[in-house]
Parts: sequence; structure tokens; C-alpha cells
Amino acid sequence: MLDDWPGSVVKRLTMTFSAFAPGRVELLGNHTDYNDGVVLSAALDLGISVEGGIRNDGKISVRSEGMQPVSASVGRLEPTGEWSDYPLGVTKILQSAGWDISGFEASYRSTLPLGAGLSSSAAMEVATAVLLTKMFPKPVTPLDLAKLCRRSENEFVGVNCGLLDQVSSIFGRAGHAIYLDCRSETVETVPFPNGAALVIVNSAVKHALTGGEYNERREMCFEAARAIGVPALRDATEHSLAAADMPPLVRRRAAHIIGENDRVTRALGFLRSGDAAGFGQLMTASHKSSMENFENSTPELDALVRIANSVKGIFGARLTGGGFGGAIVALAEESRAEEAASEIAGLYHVETGYDGKALVCHPGRGAWEANDMSSQTRSP
Ligand code: GLA
Repeated sequence: MLDDWPGSVVKRLTMTFSAFAPGRVELLGNHTDYNDGVVLSAALDLGISVEGGIRNDGKISVRSEGMQPVSASVGRLEPTGEWSDYPLGVTKILQSAGWDISGFEASYRSTLPLGAGLSSSAAMEVATAVLLTKMFPKPVTPLDLAKLCRRSENEFVGVNCGLLDQVSSIFGRAGHAIYLDCRSETVETVPFPNGAALVIVNSAVKHALTGGEYNERREMCFEAARAIGVPALRDATEHSLAAADMPPLVRRRAAHIIGENDRVTRALGFLRSGDAAGFGQLMTASHKSSMENFENSTPELDALVRIANSVKGIFGARLTGGGFGGAIVALAEESRAEEAASEIAGLYHVETGYDGKALVCHPGRGAWEANDMSSQTRSP
């Protein structure tokens, strides 16, 4: 029970541990991760911080601002559909991977807007995984930790997400975008264009990945790959898609993934040459494909992208993350970013009546770097 938290627990805990994991923004490569494809993302300078201590009585107590505190026993961790599924799921998965967890207390604080598609859930998973690795040290590589967090989301929370969110939260690097190849599972960080910033605007329409649309899109992508006769849509081309037989809806879903993989590859070239304008155009093309092919946009996200593109200093914009609500990300001229952000939010309010919160962000540090995990853990 939490009756003794925080007062007496703080006295009892011999040592306080802390961890931070950032949220992420998907820059390009929508729904490509579970299709063995490529993605560009960035960790944000916003995220989830956690503080806590070790318990030796087999009990876990977790709390987070504005949420019901939850207690559980290390030996009996089952999903409840509550926010605590994120930390408790990671605990269970780490236990099954050999972490010897005797119990712990953890208190979370977030600077990330919830339900905006900025991966607050992955940030909570990663923050927990890092915290537990500091409390109960075990050698692990950053990629393996990302995969364990993803397993928790898949097996405990029940969302069949790919690796994007957890990899971005762990591997982020200040001033850099993250390029993830989901087939070879390799991660590269690429400098973000000089003089560019990210503007993120929440549509204020709730995003819930557990809504079923995500898993349904995933199934359609697999159906398309089977129809084309390839292991994954990563291996499909416009040409092989045109030659295959499948329902028109499935064809459009596949066209989105094929287009996104291609845009990521082209965008990587623009990043390397520091071409923010070229990158921005690909972002806007990605959104058009979300609207027309993948149908994971909403009228509010469409309005935000249209408005963003009408504002001075914006290179391009698109929905970010799973879709079906949440936020857009725009690439902006750094010197115009603050002004552009408030112009977009203002115009959006006039048009829709929604209070779309706008943030200017920069690619931030991932959990590995932010928590100096290289000194805490050994890579094999
Ligand atoms: C969500 C999932 C990711 C990824 C994106 C879409 O954020 O958690 O794994 O599939 O949607 O690209």
C-alpha cells in the first residue's frame, strides 16, 4: 500500500535514483517501422523524469502527477488498463530478461503533453527501464533496452507498435535527427540542419493508439505484402505494387508505406546537405499521403498542416506518430519559429475553435546520453 509514501519511505530508502527519458517526434517514415522500413525521428527536449528507491519487501509503488497511485507485488504483475501498465509492464519484462528486482518506489513527472502522439508512453517505459537498470544493475545495450520496452508495449499494454518510439527515446542526440533502419536494426544520428527548429502543434483532439485503428492498419500492410509476395512492404516498389492483385483500400495503404520509405531515403540526403527546404517539402508530401492513402489523419490535423504551410518561415508540415489525432510537426526557420508557432495556434483557434498548444522544440538528448548509461552498464 501507499500509506507510507512518501514520508516514511523516503527515510527508509537508502538511496534515491533518478532517470529521464524524452518524448520523440517522428519526422518522416509514417508506419514504416513495423514494415521493416526506415524512419527519421528526433528525441525532444521534453520528457518524463522519475525518482525512486529500492524496496526489499517485494512491493512496487508508482505514482504520477494527476494520476491514481498504484501498488503491486513484484511476483504478480498483470495489466489493468491503467497508466501504471507502462511502468509495471517494463518491470515484468525486465524481470523475465534476468533483472533481479526486489521492489521499488517510483514517482514520475512529465513535461510532455499526453495523447499528442509524442510518445509519452515510450518515455515512461524507457524512464522506468533506465531507473530499474540503475537500481538493479545488469549489462545491457541501448538497443536491447529499447527492444525490451517495446516488448512490454506489445505484450503487456497490448499495442503492436514497432521500434520507433523506444529507439528514439533512448538514442536521441542533441541537435541530431535519428535514422532507424528497422530491418537491420541499426541507428544513426544525423546533424539537424543549422538554423532550423521544430514547431509542434497539438490538435487537441485526443490520440489513442489502443483505439484499434493502428492494429488494423498494420494487418492491411501485412496483407499487401502477402499479395505482392514479399516478406515486408520494405521490399515492395511502386512497380511491384501495380503488378499485384489486392483490394483498392489495401493498395492505398501499401502505397503510403512505399512512398514513406522513399521519402525517408531522399530526406536523409537533404539532411546531409543541410537542405531544410527540401526536407520540408517531403514532410508535406508525407501528410498528403496520410490523408489520401493511409487515412490516419483527421480534419483538425489537415487544417493545422494547411495553416502551417501558409505561415512565413515554415518549410513543411505533417502529422507525427500513429495519427488519428495528436499533433503535427513543422520544420521552421529558427529565427521565425516562435512567431510562426503562435500564428499557427491562433489561426487554428479561429478556424476550429480548438486551443491547439504550440511548442518550439529542438532535437534533444536520448535517455542513454542524458542518464550517462555508458558508465552504469556495459555493452557486451
Ligand atoms: C506509433 C507507434 C510507432 C510507429 C508510429 C507510426 O508511434 O508506436 O511504432 O508505428 O506510430 O509511424
